[in-house]
Amino acid sequence: MKYSKKTHTCGDLTKKDAGRQVTLMGWVHTRRDHGGLIFVDLRDRGGITQVVFNPGVSAEAHKTAGDIRSEYVLAVTGKVSARPENTANPNLPTGEIEVMSTELVILSESKTPPFMIEDETEVAENLRLKYRYLDLRRPSIQKVLITRHKITRTVRQFLDSHGFIDVETPFLTKSTPEGARDYLVPSRVNPGMFFALPQSPQLFKQILMVAGFERYYQIVKCFRDEDLRADRQPEFTQIDLEMSFIDQEEIISLMEQLLAGVVKEVKGADITLPFPRLTYKDAMNRYGSDKPDTRFGLELKDISDIAKESDFKVFIQAIELGGQVRGFAAPKMAGLSRKEVDDLTNEAKVFGAKGLAWIKVTDSGFESPIAKFFKDGQVKAIAERLAAKPGDLMMFIADSPKVVAETLGYLRLLMGKRLNLIDEKKLNFLWVTDFPLVEWNAEEKRWDAMHHPFTAPFDEDMPFMESDPGKVRAKAYDIVLNGSEIGGGSIRIHRSAVQTSMFKLLNIEEEDARKKFGFLLEALEFGAPPHGGLAFGLDRLTAILTNSTSIRDVIAFPKTQKAICLMTEAPSRVEQKQLRELSIKLDMIE
Ligand code: AMO
Ligand code: AMP
Repeated sequence: MKYSKKTHTCGDLTKKDAGRQVTLMGWVHTRRDHGGLIFVDLRDRGGITQVVFNPGVSAEAHKTAGDIRSEYVLAVTGKVSARPENTANPNLPTGEIEVMSTELVILSESKTPPFMIEDETEVAENLRLKYRYLDLRRPSIQKVLITRHKITRTVRQFLDSHGFIDVETPFLTKSTPEGARDYLVPSRVNPGMFFALPQSPQLFKQILMVAGFERYYQIVKCFRDEDLRADRQPEFTQIDLEMSFIDQEEIISLMEQLLAGVVKEVKGADITLPFPRLTYKDAMNRYGSDKPDTRFGLELKDISDIAKESDFKVFIQAIELGGQVRGFAAPKMAGLSRKEVDDLTNEAKVFGAKGLAWIKVTDSGFESPIAKFFKDGQVKAIAERLAAKPGDLMMFIADSPKVVAETLGYLRLLMGKRLNLIDEKKLNFLWVTDFPLVEWNAEEKRWDAMHHPFTAPFDEDMPFMESDPGKVRAKAYDIVLNGSEIGGGSIRIHRSAVQTSMFKLLNIEEEDARKKFGFLLEALEFGAPPHGGLAFGLDRLTAILTNSTSIRDVIAFPKTQKAICLMTEAPSRVEQKQLRELSIKLDMIE
């Protein structure tokens, strides 16, 4: 097989190249046989160029072209020529030219692909993932992965220019406390012992601060065995960083500059700094979520004060039990049928709500099965608080603050989508701050760390650590983009006494703490600098910046919802011999 060097990429040729001799190499995108002439759209990473095989130009090339099929790999040599005026293709960047082939070499043949390599294809995701190498040939997916590359390149350049040092941390390590299940790796040389794949480099990056690196970063895989959703993968990538001698404000400001640089690089747009901020409490109260989508309104309002004065037992009882009544008005939704409202009620119940109270606002007044429980003027006062207009549907949940927030947060998003209130072009960055340090776990009857157990409490809240832990705020911050948590971090505890009291609060026995995190506790006793950091979810950030619906679309080789790689068919069974070497005997619980 003799052929010249590839001289150009298929996407680059323009009218200016007319007359030039080129050699292109790539895949057959389409082939059309027009009797005498054969037309091939040749595709490589850079785009598509039309190649013409004319028996008058080269009988041999034309003959070989007769054999080629979709996805064959070709080397084509020929002259670039401007297309005749009426045959130009305005949909193709190279639509004004074509290459008149003088030589053709088939570099590789292809079976008929199981689906067309095109952007607009309705192919089942499972088939795409099985033949991921074909799926990845689609220009739109290549574009996404190239954008991902540009993001990491920008991040590296930014962090490098701000004195961050890239340090690798181990994958074979001890269980880390991010809260998901661990992926375990058996140790052959230590029978019965297991490594855990890191859920994040959290402990190592803190140790690196104790070690005096001052500024660390890593673009790193993290592993979490958790239930998967569109924005979760069992292995995903963090932009992970940590700094010494800084406070929350400095980290936030630096991270805003980093994100502004990323958006400039991939979108060419300038974003306004600083980003808005909400405390956790305000986020929960106003949006029912700690990662609110602020691209639309429909804010939640507390109507407990009015509800308390009504005769509606459901509301009164909820308030008496320490709960609240909140609601919002969905514009133009008063026309919902009884069944549609019942469907909404059933959805609300998924979040633990006991029901959904509603009032329709019409031109002639209010329509609602609960209106009769309210005195004159009360419903009007509620409508005013919710800024409800005729045609709107007011919805209310009475329950604990948690159930109210979760349910209304969900309904608010649902209505935002249904009513088309979300401007997809917006990029709404938002910091959520002042998280509670701990959260009550009613099932296990204990306090759980809201972020992780190494997050520092507010200095002024320290006195409540024992007396009223729920009141203690943490120096923790999440960064939210369009309703998705794209990152989170905190200022860490850097004094071992505070760390020990935190473990005590979390009911982690001293011995247990020593066993699990003894190395950190000990390191904190050897001159630990004040430090803090953050980790971005690179997959989520990339997915949003590329308008992808799932993070699977921005990962070259993702896993399915069932944590399977369809291409390699991992995970899989292993040989008995391997198990024996690892001193492992399977006892499958069916
Ligand atoms: P956290 O657990 O919040 O923090 O993770 C940081 C960010 O990683 C992303 N993320 C995920 N992305 C895809 N699939 C997953 N399963 C997944 N889990 C998390 C999210 C999240 O905001 N060590 C701390 C950071 C710190 O405190 O510095 C940590 O891991 O976008
Ligand atoms: P009931 O009195 O149980 O028939 O409920 C009257 C209305 O209130 C129904 O529309 C229920 O869905 C609704 N409802 C019941 N419990 C709650 C609650 N905790 N919060 C909001 N609405 C509720």
